[in-house]
Amino acid sequence: MKKLENIGIIPVVVIHDEKDAMPLAKALCDGGLLAVEVTFRTDAAEGTIRKMSEAYKELLVGAGTVLTTEQVDRAVDVGAKFIVSPGLNPKVVRYCQEKGIPVIPGVVTPSEIEQALELGLEVVKFFPAEPSGGLPMIQAMGAAYTKLKFMPTGGINLQNVEAYLKSDKILACGGSWMVKEQDICDGNFEDITKKCKAVSALVQS
Ligand code: 3PG
Repeated sequence: MKKLENIGIIPVVVIHDEKDAMPLAKALCDGGLLAVEVTFRTDAAEGTIRKMSEAYKELLVGAGTVLTTEQVDRAVDVGAKFIVSPGLNPKVVRYCQEKGIPVIPGVVTPSEIEQALELGLEVVKFFPAEPSGGLPMIQAMGAAYTKLKFMPTGGINLQNVEAYLKSDKILACGGSWMVKEQDICDGNFEDITKKCKAVSALVQS
């Protein structure tokens, strides 16, 4: 969690072909963004996590869109260092806790937050962030849950991310704007590096 906080912005990746894993990892590292959430939305996720984790030790590789305990096993087996889910599934959370892997489930409401607290969590994803009220919603809910930190994702971009990062309720932000699915498919890795550099510069500042 500390590493995610230091990195500040976590690229959320949908990758369709394992052959893109290495150039993408290089593009992220060259751009100074040393974390990635590889979503389990494609068959290439597992192989991508394996390749990235093995070849780029400096890159903190996690698995996203993890919906089942079986996917937790598959992600951990190939080297994922953290697990992210769009919603809060107590079974998945408890399983991750038993395995000792950090897990960040998604919430949108106070009731979901209280379920997360009941499970002993200190960090939750806020998803989908912008359609669900964005930073004002996080600040309003966060006022009641003073120790909880959020990782908002969904609708965040270079224009609005700075406001999120300035809030003490935010651990880190997730987003795909610097790693667009189409750019990965088209092999536009130089563009990805360029966008990651802009993101890193913003985090530094
Ligand atoms: C996702 O799960 O796809 C993330 O929330 C990314 O959202 P974004 O594409 O709006 O950044």
